[in-house]
Amino acid sequence: MSAGEKNLDRGRKFGMKKWFFAVMTAALLFGLGACGQEEGKDSESGGDTQMEGTQTEQVSSSQRDGADLEGGSEGTGTSGAGEGDSLSAGGAVSEESLQDEASQALGLAELYQENFSVGIALPNYVFSHIEEYQQVIVDNFNSITCENEMKPDSLLDKKASQADLENTYLHAAVHFDNCMPAVEFALEHDMKMRFHTLVWYSQTPKWFFTEDYTDDGELVGRETMLARMENYIADVLGYFQENYPGLIYAVDVVNEAFDIGNGDENGIRMKDNRWYDTVGDDFYYHAFVFARKYASEDMKLFYNDYGCMYKTELILERLKQAKEEGLIDGIGMQSHLSVSDDIRFNFMLAAKAFCEEGYEVQATELDIGVKESSKAAFRTQGSKYKSFFRVMRNLQEEGWPITNVTVWGLNDALSWRKDEFALMFDEDMEPKPAYLGAMLDESVWDE
Ligand code: GLA
Repeated sequence: MSAGEKNLDRGRKFGMKKWFFAVMTAALLFGLGACGQEEGKDSESGGDTQMEGTQTEQVSSSQRDGADLEGGSEGTGTSGAGEGDSLSAGGAVSEESLQDEASQALGLAELYQENFSVGIALPNYVFSHIEEYQQVIVDNFNSITCENEMKPDSLLDKKASQADLENTYLHAAVHFDNCMPAVEFALEHDMKMRFHTLVWYSQTPKWFFTEDYTDDGELVGRETMLARMENYIADVLGYFQENYPGLIYAVDVVNEAFDIGNGDENGIRMKDNRWYDTVGDDFYYHAFVFARKYASEDMKLFYNDYGCMYKTELILERLKQAKEEGLIDGIGMQSHLSVSDDIRFNFMLAAKAFCEEGYEVQATELDIGVKESSKAAFRTQGSKYKSFFRVMRNLQEEGWPITNVTVWGLNDALSWRKDEFALMFDEDMEPKPAYLGAMLDESVWDE
């Protein structure tokens, strides 16, 4: 019996949830049970799989082992993980027991319950059409990130700030209306939340940085903006602690502060960055100072960024002081990937490098894009999702603090990467091989 069929069996017990049928159908359609790696590759000559094949070949197993050891010896090993071959996708647990667990689990959250929480980023649209999505959400996820509704442009209240400038000059007004649907859903279903995000160059309105809170006002100076930053962070974190204690377990304090192409000589993002323009190149450090001052102990403080496997050293270097001063707990690796990215080697090494420096690591915005909507491309994508979840699980089982994987959106139609079909469910909420891969289903081939 394949994992898909076993799920169907369980589905009957659980009242034959519609989407268990969908999982089994997807397994049959895409995975074809016995189809191994070779079949997958044959069926996609010239496509993404070939690219990956080439890439995998470039890194031979001996090279990989060497690099792995090197990575391990360079680190400070503060997290106390053991030795192990995290490069072998099935390294930490036997293939058989993995399959067993995979076919027994109701969904992702249950499958990874011993390893890390599994999250989903949701926009308010989903909550206003919740009957279409609820079952899949509660069966698979135990953490929610608001896709937009906890960003500064959602929380800052322009009208109220302008109306009382004498009192709000250093202390802009905030409101929490937009994120309430997510908060209420999380509470109702016993789910935790990641807060995303406090200090970011994007989705933060210009008026917040000006003398009179208008869009074309003059930018304020460093001290004023630091005071506004402190008050904003105090208000936002204070609100959740007071009203929903325990709900938020991780906070993206700073998002995307480092950028090789758009950065200054130290790699600190300058382009379109009003935090940099007003506060200066240490804006991100102060954000962590204030966040630590106002966060409760159960809110872990994260630095979140894209392309982490290409700027690991830059991130580690720039965060060193905040880390040494105990102001930061973890790195959020956004994980907006494509099927040509090397997950088993490059991504894994970056995650491990952060862990070795004593950071907790979360994959905060996972999606894996493909170039076309075809069966073959979706199979390749499925094996990439499988690799991703295995790499994270193996690292965790080796003792490294991998604490969450969050998928950035529910289905391809709701994704910011619509043209790349980057998510686990299609527009009709049918599970793709990507979902089966994340579930470690045997119908999805191993890279
Ligand atoms: C970045 C941000 C996310 C989101 C995506 C694009 O990764 O961190 O909040 O805006 O871009 O949707």
